[in-house]
Amino acid sequence: MEEKEISQAVIGRLPRYFRYLGELKDQGVERISSQDLSSLMKVTASQIRQDFNNFGGFGQQGYGYNVEYLYNEIGRILGLDRQHNFIIIGAGNLGRALGNYLNFERRGFIFRGMFDKNPDLVGMKVRNVSVMPMEEMEEFIRRNDIDIAVLTIPKAGAVSVAERLVRTGIRAIWNFAHVDLNVPAGIQVENVHLSDSLMKLSYNILRGTESGMEPDKGNGET
Ligand code: NAI
Repeated sequence: MEEKEISQAVIGRLPRYFRYLGELKDQGVERISSQDLSSLMKVTASQIRQDFNNFGGFGQQGYGYNVEYLYNEIGRILGLDRQHNFIIIGAGNLGRALGNYLNFERRGFIFRGMFDKNPDLVGMKVRNVSVMPMEEMEEFIRRNDIDIAVLTIPKAGAVSVAERLVRTGIRAIWNFAHVDLNVPAGIQVENVHLSDSLMKLSYNILRGTESGMEPDKGNGET
């Protein structure tokens, strides 16, 4: 299917569709109407149709979407039908928590290596992966077909580590460091700031704001 330029807002909603459809598939649901998907996900049916129309509509006919087909198609659009190898830089609390999270593998994200500048951590195992010294990072990336680097280090070191990553030709950085990274076009950066989400929660507590049409009732699986 020919894919046109899709807005980041639509792309941002695809993982949630993918997650709900995966749950429906696991429950043995074969077809679902946009109305039923709408009430399940608390998104309007017209939003769903508009989103799906970006990809040709996924062939809804009369009585709804084929769940497995839709799940597979959205997975393919998200690139989840292929494997991504990732490394984690920073073997502290956050890096270890991410390294220990098995569900990434279910989605095709394979944890290959971990690096830290602290020599005391070198050799420590996180699942089946040993922490390596930073000096070995570039060579490891090149030899192991690594396309994603996860940055779980303080902001002080993040910019220079990102520059080193860029020189290796890495495809993407999943950045948890609290600093904006300036990388050349063609390298994807996804910044994650958990505290942003908490601050939003705080705002809504303060005002008793309804969470609106898109509450995340998922089970937190990624
Ligand atoms: P931590 O102190 O437990 O671990 C940090 C690790 O990074 C240490 O092992 C340290 O040796 C290593 N490190 C520091 N500079 C490095 C460098 N230049 N190269 C290689 N390794 C280096 O800290 P924690 O709790 O794991 O958090 C890591 C960072 O992530 C913190 O800076 C924190 O602010 C940030 N963070 C971000 C969150 C987010 O939502 N974006 C959530 C939690 C933490």
